Amino acid sequence: MDKNSEEWLQSKLREIKSFNRYVKPESALDVTLEAGIEAEKVIKLNQNENLFLSKDFLCSLLNDVINEIDLRLYSKEGEVELKEAIGKYVGLPSDYVILGNGSDQIIDLIIRTFLGKDSVAVSIKPTYSMYKWSVNHLGAKYFEIPLREDFSLNVEGILESSKGNKGICFICSPNNPTGNQFELEDVRAIIESFPGLVLVDEAYVEFAKNSLTKLVKKYKNLIVTRTFSKAFGLAGVRIGYALSNSEISTAIFEYAQLPYSLNCIGLRLALKVLEMVDRFKKSIDGLKEEREKLMGRLNSIKGVRAFKSDANFILFQVMKPYEKVFNDLFDKGVLVRKIGKVLNLEGCLRVTVGLPYMNDRFIEALTSISE
Ligand SMILES: Cc1ncc(COP(=O)(O)O)c(C=O)c1O
Repeated sequence: MDKNSEEWLQSKLREIKSFNRYVKPESALDVTLEAGIEAEKVIKLNQNENLFLSKDFLCSLLNDVINEIDLRLYSKEGEVELKEAIGKYVGLPSDYVILGNGSDQIIDLIIRTFLGKDSVAVSIKPTYSMYKWSVNHLGAKYFEIPLREDFSLNVEGILESSKGNKGICFICSPNNPTGNQFELEDVRAIIESFPGLVLVDEAYVEFAKNSLTKLVKKYKNLIVTRTFSKAFGLAGVRIGYALSNSEISTAIFEYAQLPYSLNCIGLRLALKVLEMVDRFKKSIDGLKEEREKLMGRLNSIKGVRAFKSDANFILFQVMKPYEKVFNDLFDKGVLVRKIGKVLNLEGCLRVTVGLPYMNDRFIEALTSISE
């Protein structure tokens, strides 16, 4: 490499390293290495994965899939079939569906496709970190409008912040990390008046009361993103989708998305899940029941306050220093997510709703630390 090229490369690397780094949360292996607890004994409740579905059941689906696919082929038919099945599941035509390698990849694609350096992105605070991460990479402006004290949307604040500039507004509902689903009327008011696209992230919607997908036909500027990672337990497979009118969906999926962005295993697995969706709905109901129990148990621990959730996780505040609570749980083999300050609430943590025995271990550990 000559000196000029080397300088160019180094300046590009400096530019890349000036972006925010996405730090992946702790894994079971980290607990093994640092606290000496075997990985199988670690209670991993820090990434809102769906532990409520049995690993064996999902593996049996994978076994079926393996006999049905041909790994040597690119799977155009798989995409067509999955779009049709998703359309049926949500009650929309299949050309309203965009497929992606996890909903993160679709969110990033939408940001790269629709935003430029001069556009604005508006979202709420606190919320899912990926919107800001992707917007920052692009160099566009990102405004964060704090939720109101009761975790509801500040509709006026959101509309005011865009000041007529075109762009994208991100609403995560149910919101990560607060867990609440926003009032339909508030979201609708934003869709009607925001001068650009409104992306509603419904990653956790199956655990909540209602969905905005029925509004996709009505509003030209609405995109709803969803995933198979949460309710359907396939986080490791990476299957996400978005729903928007056919004009937007076709533009994104046929012109902007990489061809064959989903692998044939994921496509077929997702199809299988939707074929037996009632079985998954039963497990979702079980998880919701367990969530309410966990909420009650958290609130009965002295020095702990848990917030109502419409998702598969619960935000809670601890009166003791939260970093110490996190570390003490870690040392006992229980992984939760460090959140910190949420609006004016100091010391928040987030926990995934796990199977009853996992929640027991978590509650037992937290009780001994907090009281
Ligand atoms: C709100 C929200 N949206 C999207 C995602 C990403 O989901 P996926 O696995 O489909 O990329 C997550 C993952 O935790 C999330 O919390």
